[in-house]
Amino acid sequence: MREKHAKIVPMLKIKSQIASVLAEKMKAINPDAMGVEEIANMLEYPPDAAMGDLSLPCFKLSKLLRRSPVQIAEMLADGFESPCVSKASTINGYLNFNISDGYLATAVVPEVLSKGDKYGAPTMGQGKTVVLDYSSPNVAKPFHIGHLGTTVIGHSLKKLHEFAGYKCVGINYLGDWGTQFGKLIVAYRKWGNKETVEAGGVDGLVELYVKFHAEAENDKALEDEARAEFTKLEHGDEENLALWRWFVEISLKEYKKTYDLLGIEFDSYKGESFYTDKMPAQVQLLRDKNLLKIDDGASIVDLEEYNMPPCLILKRDGSTLYPTRDIAAAVYRKNEYKFDKAIYVTSAGQSLHFAQWFKVVEMMGYDWYDQLVHVPYGTVSINGAKLATRTGNVILLRDLFAMAIEKVSDIIDQKNPDLENKEKVAEDVGVGAIIFYYLSNNRIKDINFVMEDALSFDGNTGPYVQYTYARTCSILSKNGGEGDGKVIISTTEERNLALALSRFEERVCDAIDSYEPSVITRYILDVAVAFNQFYHNCPILGAQDEATKASRVKLTAAAKTVLGNAFGLICLKKTEKI
Ligand code: ARG
Repeated sequence: MREKHAKIVPMLKIKSQIASVLAEKMKAINPDAMGVEEIANMLEYPPDAAMGDLSLPCFKLSKLLRRSPVQIAEMLADGFESPCVSKASTINGYLNFNISDGYLATAVVPEVLSKGDKYGAPTMGQGKTVVLDYSSPNVAKPFHIGHLGTTVIGHSLKKLHEFAGYKCVGINYLGDWGTQFGKLIVAYRKWGNKETVEAGGVDGLVELYVKFHAEAENDKALEDEARAEFTKLEHGDEENLALWRWFVEISLKEYKKTYDLLGIEFDSYKGESFYTDKMPAQVQLLRDKNLLKIDDGASIVDLEEYNMPPCLILKRDGSTLYPTRDIAAAVYRKNEYKFDKAIYVTSAGQSLHFAQWFKVVEMMGYDWYDQLVHVPYGTVSINGAKLATRTGNVILLRDLFAMAIEKVSDIIDQKNPDLENKEKVAEDVGVGAIIFYYLSNNRIKDINFVMEDALSFDGNTGPYVQYTYARTCSILSKNGGEGDGKVIISTTEERNLALALSRFEERVCDAIDSYEPSVITRYILDVAVAFNQFYHNCPILGAQDEATKASRVKLTAAAKTVLGNAFGLICLKKTEKI
């Protein structure tokens, strides 16, 4: 589902200003030509900057304006005037625009500085609510690198939506219910004890779970015992409930360490268990609507008409399933939060599951079915090694971050041993490196982590962009603040930087429209590269005269603002010193 909204502000504002002039000119040719917004959306960024900063492909207008693209481009260019355009020129049916330096200096950069941490924020979410279901590890199972995607993509989407004015509810839909608890209870009673589990935390629980599977290979009765214990739990057995609560608590405590490291907080931890008493009403509704079919004793919703396998609602023994819970949870959340959009971030392996139960929600007659959005992502491997679940032999998220932090620590010790706050910096840069590397690709692509690449200070990496941010901070602090000079743009580097800054809001909108945080990562790189070229070619504090110096300091401050705002959208810490 893609939301349509008016794209109007900075680069968008520039686009709409150009488009309104174009609209007038087109009207003179054909009175029922296009509207401003439609034209604004046709404006493209030319692949080669020598062709201009924005371009209108006129062949798309041939039919409407009944002329050749070349003629149209010429007619529209003739006498084109707008405060933000310094030149309108034509090449082969393209009408190209150069954004004026004066406009960048007097409108764009001052806007960045005056809006500060609000700069780049779209307003499309005002008055709307989004519910985001993400991270959601399964209690007593490892919180491993397969969860990296749902955790950081989910959180970025939350930040992006908040930035756009949405009221956001972040939900950690903990996998805190299911037969694994029967297994764990059996294993704990047979082989575990309070002290070791308390000392071992989740690892202790995972160990028990793994041992259960190893033992069950030879002793089939164990599975039956586990099922029986889970049934007791479902029926409210006090002893089992107490154990279950304890397992959940231990696991949460552990997950929260990783969330703290990432700066993630959830608004709700209502996990799967919360919905046990909310399913019967939905199952009844399915029955009332004649949607349930009995298939080999199980209750299913037939989805053949939609080219999907059936959605399983009840097992033969009447117990509920994953889709049943998701349906009940969605209904609950709709009533509770009145969401305009509910986003679910999971691995692409669950795409069918979501497509199925979204369809069932539609068939049940809930008219908000089209507000449900599944955001899938690809697999993660490390140095080529895939994940092995079940055996317990997995790379934990916590270890992945620890590894990165340690390596950054080593680098700091070598390069900058006197850095103050070394540990905190290593943590921010190590964590940032993982996040940035992970979010650099389109989410659906499978990713292979190469730690050295992620941690490099001179590739397209987290350390590189955080270092760039620290550089802006250091310049400003040496200058004693951003001063109050006027911005003057006279070099290509200054111009490119200002142009990059002007595009922020548009990129935020793109990221939200496509549920794609990588749009922001790439944007951050654009700004970092533009800033570093500016830094290397245009002396800032050592500029030839005071006015130039004051102007360049202002540009630096604007770059810092935009980088900082963009970092916030992908959970990257703003490192002031590295
Ligand atoms: N706990 C599940 C897992 O780890 C993910 C839950 C995703 N959210 C949902 N509403 N189904 O696979």
